[in-house]
Amino acid sequence: MLDKRNELNAWDRDHFFHPSTHMGMHARGETPTRVIAGAEGVHITDTNGKKSLDAFAGLYCVNVGYGRQKIADAIAEQAKNLAYYHAYVGHGTEASITLSKMIIDRAPEGMSRVYFGLSGSDANETNIKLIWYYNNILGRPEKKKIISRWRGYHGSGVMTGSLTGLELFHNAFDLPRAPILHTEAPYFFRRPDRSMDEEQFAQYCADKLEEMILAEGPETVAAFIGEPILGTGGIVPPPKTYWQKIQAVLNKYDVLLVADEVITGFGRLGTMFGSDHYGMKPDLITIAKGLTSAYAPLSGSIVSEKMWQVLVQGSDRLGAIGHGWTYSAHPICAAAGIANLELIDELGIVENAGSTGAYFRSELAKAVGEHKHVGDVRGDGLMAAVEFVEDRDDHKFFDPAKKIGPQVAAALLERGVIGRAMPQGDILGFAPPLCLTRDEADIVVKAAAGAIESIFSKL
Ligand SMILES: Cc1ncc(COP(=O)(O)O)c(C=O)c1O
Repeated sequence: MLDKRNELNAWDRDHFFHPSTHMGMHARGETPTRVIAGAEGVHITDTNGKKSLDAFAGLYCVNVGYGRQKIADAIAEQAKNLAYYHAYVGHGTEASITLSKMIIDRAPEGMSRVYFGLSGSDANETNIKLIWYYNNILGRPEKKKIISRWRGYHGSGVMTGSLTGLELFHNAFDLPRAPILHTEAPYFFRRPDRSMDEEQFAQYCADKLEEMILAEGPETVAAFIGEPILGTGGIVPPPKTYWQKIQAVLNKYDVLLVADEVITGFGRLGTMFGSDHYGMKPDLITIAKGLTSAYAPLSGSIVSEKMWQVLVQGSDRLGAIGHGWTYSAHPICAAAGIANLELIDELGIVENAGSTGAYFRSELAKAVGEHKHVGDVRGDGLMAAVEFVEDRDDHKFFDPAKKIGPQVAAALLERGVIGRAMPQGDILGFAPPLCLTRDEADIVVKAAAGAIESIFSKL
């Protein structure tokens, strides 16, 4: 076993190009390789036998938890019966057709069709193309700009990396590309003027959006994209009334709304969709992660009836849509999706995310909220973040070079719990599987308090 482990470590350093990893340090063996061997419930185990409570559900995706027999059986059955057929030119499978019906049954009002992809990034690429196609069909070829937000995360393709509003995903990639623009993030804790209350800040964000639309010319602005609650940008819930105010601006200038529900779709906020949670009225919804709980790669663009009607009219003029992936609606992934959505209902996962989420966040705030280096404890449903500051009174942040967030995440891991050092700011994020119990939440909170104490007592 030791030989095998050493061999894997060497192969990993020499041949595996990891995403979101410091390439040089990893290749030189200066950062550890962790080889994951198995998982059950909310725990993962590595090849050294170390077990960790995964309080980030992989990458906020293993919503029903690891090791669910029902999903594994559905995948195996589908692979045996029909491993693949494409979805081009009107083809389908029982699994892909059934899953589209199940998604629309659960989606917010007014949604009509699902286009399937494999990742959140490709689903947002599809969304951008559908928006442009839609406006071309309507005879508005100049209405093409898409407004995203600083700190939004929408993927890392060329256009979706442009939608993403985090510098790490732009640096040295020549992104963002036109015609994508970024507006204010609804980040109350980092609002530009500390005297603003939540309501005033929500209005400020809506005003900034309106100013941008007017400056660009409403006839050139096609859509606005946002996650119901900012995810990778720092796990930041919107100020109350933010979405209502944004929605009013979008309606005024005939700008479409894309709700990127890659994290929030299928229960994370204690409702099936985040759009319902915050009263958003999207024209397109991006889904991925929780759709299969990551047992197989599957994403989707849910298209509203309003957009669908225009697309259908266009096809009578333009012919078949020139857009498709070989693996769109892959039957093995669709079978995983069906079993996963059934499990979500059978286990009451959405309700649990709401109730255990509220418990977890309140225990976390009680345990660490008064610490002199904790500036903010926030979240919604089963998403939470602790943001660290050098000085609470002056609202002063740490020098990023000190890597406080990564240090706390490492100390948390030493205590057997996985959280995520969010990429921009000293922020420790949590997004555990939605089957988390209160006892498991207590373990995470205790480990977080211990990790925070251990790092700051050394400063
Ligand atoms: C809100 C959101 N949109 C899109 C994506 C991109 O998804 P993927 O990594 O599957 O391409 C992510 C990934 O974390 C996400 O959080």
